[in-house]
Amino acid sequence: MIELFAPIAEACTIEVPPANRLPIALVGAGAIVDLAHLPAYRKGGLEVVGITDLDRARAEDVASRHDIGRVYADLDELLADERVAVIDIAVPAAAQPEIVRRALESGRHVLGQKPFAPTSGIAAELAREATARGVVLAVNQQLRFDEGIAAAHEMMRLGWLGEVTSLSISVDIWTEWTLWPWMLTLAELEVWNHSIHYHDVVRWFLGEPDSIYASAGRTPGQAPSGETRTATTYTFPGGARALVHAHHENRWGDQRAEFRLEGSGGAVRGTLGLLYDYPRGRPDTLEVNSTIVGTDGWVPYPVTSRWLPDAFLGPMASLLEAAAGGRPPRTSADDNVRTLCVVEAIYRSIRSGRAQAPTEIYQRSQE
Ligand SMILES: NC(=O)c1ccc[n+]([C@@H]2O[C@H](COP(=O)([O-])OP(=O)(O)OC[C@H]3O[C@@H](n4cnc5c(N)ncnc54)[C@H](O)[C@@H]3O)[C@@H](O)[C@H]2O)c1
Repeated sequence: MIELFAPIAEACTIEVPPANRLPIALVGAGAIVDLAHLPAYRKGGLEVVGITDLDRARAEDVASRHDIGRVYADLDELLADERVAVIDIAVPAAAQPEIVRRALESGRHVLGQKPFAPTSGIAAELAREATARGVVLAVNQQLRFDEGIAAAHEMMRLGWLGEVTSLSISVDIWTEWTLWPWMLTLAELEVWNHSIHYHDVVRWFLGEPDSIYASAGRTPGQAPSGETRTATTYTFPGGARALVHAHHENRWGDQRAEFRLEGSGGAVRGTLGLLYDYPRGRPDTLEVNSTIVGTDGWVPYPVTSRWLPDAFLGPMASLLEAAAGGRPPRTSADDNVRTLCVVEAIYRSIRSGRAQAPTEIYQRSQE
């Protein structure tokens, strides 16, 4: 059985060949850069030459703890540093498009954070700009590189599950929204800022849905203004189904984050370890039961890395591979436009009480 898993583990390994390691500068020195981007880049042997943040003291603190040589006073100073080949942005979504635009104009490759842009139309415009300038633009939608998810995807890709008929992701956790004061007043909260990862993964597994239906709720006494629980169902051409359920106000100590993928010849089931004790978490779990490869019941796959920080090397490694002339990034901006269309379809469905077609939103984003 161990030999059976070897190609899966290999497909999940994230490495950056030395020749691909272009110098990186960061815009934003917030929690996610400190906890995830920088530890992942260090593990991957990447070179971070400088950082900037509106809060200079924060940038200096992060730079000193992660051995970053330069703190730029602002974006202009960063753009003027000729050593910088890749700009990695991690600021709230509303501030991101202007920074992406300027970074693209300067001819740099760019990695944007999720949510990539406040609307699919803006995201599509940025993706077109990157293509026109011949630079790589990708999005830090790193759940696609988390080992449990990536291994499940590789098992599906190799045909272990036969025809895939359903994917469900169900998350029931306590999220400390007060860690992000700027999120507390957002009218649309949960999908844009958290479940967008699951919706992006649903598309990665099952392609483009023809219909989405969603509902949302709040709980008495919650800190943020926006929705803290959502349930979304998908239908796909060919009959496959998906369900994403997320609830962030579990006050009862039994955090739970599970996924399950079923097909005509097998199934995988797993847990997202990070969400059992954020941000420390634990490795994911993953089990597979396949009549196609003959597992003789449920067999555990040995996950050895974590969503945070390990998966954060993935989008950058993939961007650097594309910049070196390799495959397009797994989380390219072009692809991410469709994830944003799904998010918009979800909120339209919540507001209208009716199913929505993300492809219609996508067509409009291309006009
Ligand atoms: N991929 C993930 O899993 C993940 C996880 C957490 C956060 N995020 C995203 O990353 C982004 C940052 O989140 P965070 O947790 O670090 O938030 P944070 O509040 O800890 O930090 C945000 C930082 O951005 C800085 N900033 C804001 N506007 C700026 C601008 N115009 N120029 C330079 N700096 C600016 C702020 O001063 C602050 O230091 C958000 O978009 C968030 O949604 C992604």
